[in-house]
Amino acid sequence: MENQLHARDKVGVQDFVLLEDFTNENAFINNLKKRFQENLIYTYIGPVIISVNPYRDLNLYSNEVIEQYRNVNFYELPPHIFAIADNAFRFMREECKDQCILISGESGSGKTEASKKLLQYLAAASHHTPSVENVKDKLLLSNPILEAFGNAKTNKNDNSSRFGKYMDVEFDFLGAPLGGHILNYLLEKSRVVHQNHGERNFHIFYQLLAGSDKKLLEGLELRRDPSAYFYLSQGSCSKIRSIDDADQFSVVEKAMNVTDFTEEEQEAVFTIVASVLHLGNVGFVEEEGQAVVVNDKPVHSICKLLGCSYSTLMNALVNKTIEANQELLCSPLNRDQAIYARDALAKALYERLFTWLVGKLNASLQSRVRKRKTLMGLLDIYGFEIFQRNSFEQFCINYCNEKLQQLFIELTLKSEQEEYCKEGIEWVPVEYFNNKIICDLVEERHKGIIAILDEECLRPGDATDATFLAKLESVVGKHQHFLSHSTASGKLRKTIERNEFRLVHYAGDVTYNVEGFLDKNNDLLYRDLKKAMMVSNNWIVKNAFTSEELFDKKRPITAATQFKTSVSSLMNILMSKEPWYIRCIKPNDNKWPGVFDETIVAHQVKYLGLMENLRVRRAGFAYRKKYEDFLKRYKCLCPDTWPSYGGSAKDGVKLLVQYLGYKPEEYAFGRSKIFIRFPKTLFQTEDEFQRYKHVLATIIQAKFRAYVQRKKYLSMQKSALLINRYWRGHLARQMLERRRWAVMVIRK
Ligand SMILES: Nc1ncnc2c1ncn2[C@@H]1O[C@H](COP(=O)(O)OP(=O)(O)OP(=O)(O)O)[C@@H](O)[C@H]1O
Ligand SMILES: [Mg+2]
Repeated sequence: MENQLHARDKVGVQDFVLLEDFTNENAFINNLKKRFQENLIYTYIGPVIISVNPYRDLNLYSNEVIEQYRNVNFYELPPHIFAIADNAFRFMREECKDQCILISGESGSGKTEASKKLLQYLAAASHHTPSVENVKDKLLLSNPILEAFGNAKTNKNDNSSRFGKYMDVEFDFLGAPLGGHILNYLLEKSRVVHQNHGERNFHIFYQLLAGSDKKLLEGLELRRDPSAYFYLSQGSCSKIRSIDDADQFSVVEKAMNVTDFTEEEQEAVFTIVASVLHLGNVGFVEEEGQAVVVNDKPVHSICKLLGCSYSTLMNALVNKTIEANQELLCSPLNRDQAIYARDALAKALYERLFTWLVGKLNASLQSRVRKRKTLMGLLDIYGFEIFQRNSFEQFCINYCNEKLQQLFIELTLKSEQEEYCKEGIEWVPVEYFNNKIICDLVEERHKGIIAILDEECLRPGDATDATFLAKLESVVGKHQHFLSHSTASGKLRKTIERNEFRLVHYAGDVTYNVEGFLDKNNDLLYRDLKKAMMVSNNWIVKNAFTSEELFDKKRPITAATQFKTSVSSLMNILMSKEPWYIRCIKPNDNKWPGVFDETIVAHQVKYLGLMENLRVRRAGFAYRKKYEDFLKRYKCLCPDTWPSYGGSAKDGVKLLVQYLGYKPEEYAFGRSKIFIRFPKTLFQTEDEFQRYKHVLATIIQAKFRAYVQRKKYLSMQKSALLINRYWRGHLARQMLERRRWAVMVIRK
């Protein structure tokens, strides 16, 4: 890092801990901006990396760059996501400790791209044997499959992940990948039946229509034109310039082949996708208060594709049977109810298909060898969401972010605290907002918002979204993080409608509209439709709709409770690992390259808690370094330690800082590291080093030149002596010859 310190004015600081005005948000954003404008999209806060989406290819991820970052210390090269990957990977191998990399940020900030770069790095940096290559291929190719079925175009991102993903990559002790495991969270299944203007359904629908061959398309009774399908035409944008659906379909097919999907399995998958499209085209009219199917062609197609009985399905689409007092009562549905039931079936089919796909990928990724494994977890989860209208999905997503923020603060503080403890340095507690109070408000047993919602969903009588809101007001109305129209006062009241409640999240206030909360939490699918699916001859459908579900007398687990349980187990998984953080930031709302909108960035800096993170990091000391490393870099600045110091590195550093005139409040000595409180002190030392480097260079140059000259002189002297010797020998031999000749002449 120090290499770059002298250039800090040109490209800002590459580690925020070195930012002088570290409590000033403007200075923080300015630093990000300066670097972004120089195409430096990565900046550290200690071991946390901030990544600003460049929205263009900066050629930052080639194999050469991977090689550059391999086995290199964190600060020796400019910040890069590969540095995080490399350090986490090495730490995992050397310490045999599970790691996890948590990627967060709002939609379109680059989380999924970051997770792909991490996988790319892990694949490139680990062993290269045929069996390992196969595992790597599977790991890498699980992505296009999950993206096809779980990603969609939204107004914020053309390839937005509509589910949360946690992936464990398993390695042996040598660092060779053995397999992996994927956990998925809360797929946004409402997208299957409804898309906002400018948005699309999940990619796979368009890919299948654009990319499948004629035979497959005919077999599925589909037409190529997406506008022929109600579930694909509501957003009025079935084509995106940045995505080639036909191309992507062949990528998905290849990926399925590599990840062990048999032909039958692939056929079963596409049959379900097609059935969902047909289902969307089943229309209803109302006759005497009862729904009637207007076009039975799509129903015929579904029955043919899924192999279910026409009369059963037809009947299930317009009637519902409920069990009351051990009696089955059948009643007809009106048009709205029939549409609701149809959509519920489409959502259930798609969601269960997605769950099956993840299970299939997991089976393919499962390692076959029984070796000790260490894990590298990658979490790519939806960021905090504040929309114009926020519903049940945003409520769940924001709750998950509250939990992650809590984990983040706790782990960051904890590790910081541990380091001071380990090094024997006094810890000054930092004031920070503990969002546990909000987590409790949402998740507390019996009196949290989820518990209240469940109670309303499961109680007998006429529970509605409005009664749920009334209950909330009576139980948590006085909570300092809860507001509603009737609990707020004055001006605030005007900003909340009667069917809304507002939560004061750590990242900002979000107003939720209660409409649909009960339905979404109940996630009800009428038993007639379940029964129709149970007899399907598509074995994915058959296995997904079982008779146990139908006859299960237990209260069904609601969507919010299911989510709460899976978030809680995710926290346990993350807690047991060494965490690394990637905080992604979106520089503007229009996907424009090179545009840095300060207001938009400021908002994200706030809700990612970056200022807080920096404050914690800076609470004690801005900078720390092992004595050996510090001495190695700066020993030239003190005559007692230059060119080498005979004693311990710690003593050498003591002499050095005394000589440099550090004041006692500026530094502290730990067991193995020196801690420097202010960046200014370090900058001065670094500046001194940069200046002195030139003096040193002159001295070294002069010494070297003298050395070269002396060597030359000595070699010339040696050569002269040699020539001299030979010449004298030659003269002596000549003289001898002449004398011998003279003696001979005289003798004769
Ligand atoms: N490092 C990068 N270099 C170049 N372009 C990028 C980079 N990261 C993201 N992008 C661009 O931004 C787009 C959105 O990124 P990505 O899909 O990773 O966002 P995300 O955070 O996963 O959003 P979501 O929460 O909606 O899934 C990408 O499709 C790509 O065009
Ligand atoms: Mg994503």
